[in-house]
Amino acid sequence: MTSKEIKIAYKEYDSIDQLEQYDRELAEAAIQATEGSYAPYSKFNVGAAVRLDNGTIIKGSNQENAAYPSGTCAERTAMFYASAAYPHNAMTAIAITASQEGILCDNPATPCGACRQVMAQYQTKGGQPMTILLVGGKKIWKFEKVDDLLPLIFDSI
Ligand code: THU
Repeated sequence: MTSKEIKIAYKEYDSIDQLEQYDRELAEAAIQATEGSYAPYSKFNVGAAVRLDNGTIIKGSNQENAAYPSGTCAERTAMFYASAAYPHNAMTAIAITASQEGILCDNPATPCGACRQVMAQYQTKGGQPMTILLVGGKKIWKFEKVDDLLPLIFDSI
């Protein structure tokens, strides 16, 4: 038997002003994207912004439905649109944020498992790391690749 350990590294920032310009721009796009959220049930407004390798930024937000499983998360709204509209462009970064009653949540919004899985596959499809920016009002976390949020990724088929 061998004991093994997986370590992940990420950076923490106190405010979006500390980010590099291109990350700040993506974080701001994610914050704007919360305005498109339709969340009458949870009232949790999530915004996501995906950057493509051609510089285009695609925004998405969570869209809920009375038939609950029919709704989608912000990240998948953005990624599925990005892949549908720009099938030949890699997604190089995604920023995610959440607000409640119009106020940005203090803590970073962490993506659900299904969204992490989808990110993983688009990272593989794009052939380059997708950085992840989890944006809170008081704290921002930056991960350099999806593997850091989803170790031992399933992408075998
Ligand atoms: N949600 C997202 O948009 N992204 C996530 O990664 C987690 C959850 C949404 C789904 C639902 O509309 C609301 O947040 C509450 O769960």
